[in-house]
Amino acid sequence: LASTDVELGPIAVGQAITVVWRGKPVFVRRRTAQEIEAARNVNLSELRDPQPDQARVQKDEWLVVIGICTHLGCVPLGQKPTDERGEYGGWFCPCHGSAYDTSGRIRRGPAPLNLAVPGYSFSSDTKIRIG
Ligand code: FES
Repeated sequence: LASTDVELGPIAVGQAITVVWRGKPVFVRRRTAQEIEAARNVNLSELRDPQPDQARVQKDEWLVVIGICTHLGCVPLGQKPTDERGEYGGWFCPCHGSAYDTSGRIRRGPAPLNLAVPGYSFSSDTKIRIG
């Protein structure tokens, strides 16, 4: 399918789900207020791939990223609050230890780039269309 529709209503605050878009995993995460704040309170000069959080989201609460580590393509962990999300609270790639933050930005480990943000749009307050 060229596009993937995602119902956001069932996703709890703090939870993330994985959907498939063009054969790739896409993470859709409903961020907590603390996670949003953590993503905003980062000095961009500390980032390997400097991008403000505001440039990576359309609505603060919703982070949508392609779930493929930018090092060698493993799928990072962190979809459930109980998972190992790594020291920056986003995702952790178990293959070689890349840690991503609550904006999906690379913070530690060998990955060179942030988790990619796919093209998507809100079709309503509770639904997005990826692609
Ligand atoms: Fe993720 Fe190497 S593939 S750290």
